[in-house]
Formats: sequence, structure tokens, C-alpha cells
Amino acid sequence: MAILEAKNLSYFYQDGENRRYILRETDIAFEKGKFYTILGQSGSGKTTLLSLLSALESPKEGNVFYNGKDIKEIGYETFRRNNIGIVFQHYNLIPYMTAVENVMVPMAITENELPANKTDVAYNLLDYIGIVKSKADRPVNRLSGGEQQRVAIARSLATNVDVILADEPTGNLDEEMEQEIVEIFKKLAHEHGKCVVVVTHSQEIATLSDEIYYLRKGKLKAYE
Ligand SMILES: Nc1ncnc2c1ncn2[C@@H]1O[C@H](COP(=O)(O)OP(=O)(O)O)[C@@H](O)[C@H]1O
Ligand SMILES: [Mg+2]
Repeated sequence: MAILEAKNLSYFYQDGENRRYILRETDIAFEKGKFYTILGQSGSGKTTLLSLLSALESPKEGNVFYNGKDIKEIGYETFRRNNIGIVFQHYNLIPYMTAVENVMVPMAITENELPANKTDVAYNLLDYIGIVKSKADRPVNRLSGGEQQRVAIARSLATNVDVILADEPTGNLDEEMEQEIVEIFKKLAHEHGKCVVVVTHSQEIATLSDEIYYLRKGKLKAYE
């Protein structure tokens, strides 16, 4: 069964009398253990789609289901706190806090049961993603872009969620770093059974994913 699913999803902006549709009656389903990319040009609605899937925005029509349950019923805040991790293009870390402190922020607000030694969990996650202890103890504004995005990925995993949603996660990184970040996403899907969904305009990322969709004129199509 799909862990995350959108049915009949529509989103539009009202412009006077006109509705400008960004998404139109869109269906998509995501499973655990797979790394998905959704390709689309700038302005095609990628961020809008991800915002609906991550309950940062409410659809105009249609529904999003997590494990078969409408996220509206779960409650948007509850869903975000307990069920998903989000990775942004600009990392969205708290700059004056250390890497390990950033990773621990969602641990403090989730209702998920976590091991008692939260600090160890955070250091271990960072280490797994390639941030050694000396860097984990550094304020994140003194880490490189690639390192900051690793911290953001560790943070998205901190509450032990099954679903990671990422919006242009390598948009600010050079090619080599992009490759490394993509390898992390692949590993999370294939070795740890996570459902990873990345929206991007990068064809390179798409070719490394398990399933590719293309967003165009408000419709999602499987990419061939
Ligand atoms: N607040 C808004 N009011 C009107 N149009 C908007 C607003 N926010 C975004 N849009 C439009 O919605 C479209 C899709 O935006 P977005 O989802 O950010 O695309 P992408 O992430 O693929 O670049 C764009 O054409 C954008 O201009
Ligand atoms: Mg965008």
C-alpha cells in the first residue's frame, strides 16, 4: 500500500474572476523503499505540490492520505510533527545553533517515541550522513552549503519518519555535492526503506531515481 497518496488534487490562485490552476485533478502514490523525483520547469508547480503533500498548504480540491488516512483528519500539524521530514533548497537551519542542536529541534516537538539518549541519536545520524563530531558541534553558519544540507537531511530523519520530502535540495550546490546528496537519498530509500520524494528541475537527479514524474500544465505524468 502507498504510504503517501494524493487523490484528485487541485490548486489554483484566484485572479479576479479567473482561476489560474497550478495543479488540476492530480493523482499520485508513493511507496516506502523508493526514491522518486518529480521534474518540472520553474513555475510548473513543484513547490506547490510539495507544500500540499507536506501539509504546509491546504488543497482547493482533493485529498492527501498518509497510510490510507486523510491528513486533514490526522491534523496538519500532527502530521508534520510525527510523520514526515522536509528538506528545503535553502536548508532552513537555525544559523546560530550547532548542527547537533538543529537536529534535535524536531525531536523536542514530536510525539513519536524516541530513544532516551536523544543527543547520541543526533550525533549518530549526523555521522551517518557524513558530519563528524567536530563539525556537529559547530554553529551551522560556519559549515559549507553541502554540509548544511547534510545537517538538514539528518534533521528530517531525527523523528524516525518514513517519508522525506525535498524541494530542490541541491539547487544551491555544485555538481559533486549534488551527486553526494543524491547518494544519501538513494541509500535512505534502498537500505532504510524510506519513501523519498524530491522535486527538482535537475535531469541528473532524475536519472538516478527509481521513478520519475513530470509536472506540466498542472498535470503529473510518468516520465518516459
Ligand atoms: N501567492 C501567489 N499568488 C499567485 N501566484 C502564485 C503565488 N505563489 C506562487 N504562484 C505561482 O504559482 C506557480 C507555481 O509556483 P511553484 O509551485 O513555486 O513552482 P515551482 O516550484 O515549480 O517553480 C508559479 O507560476 C507562481 O508564479
Ligand atoms: Mg519551487
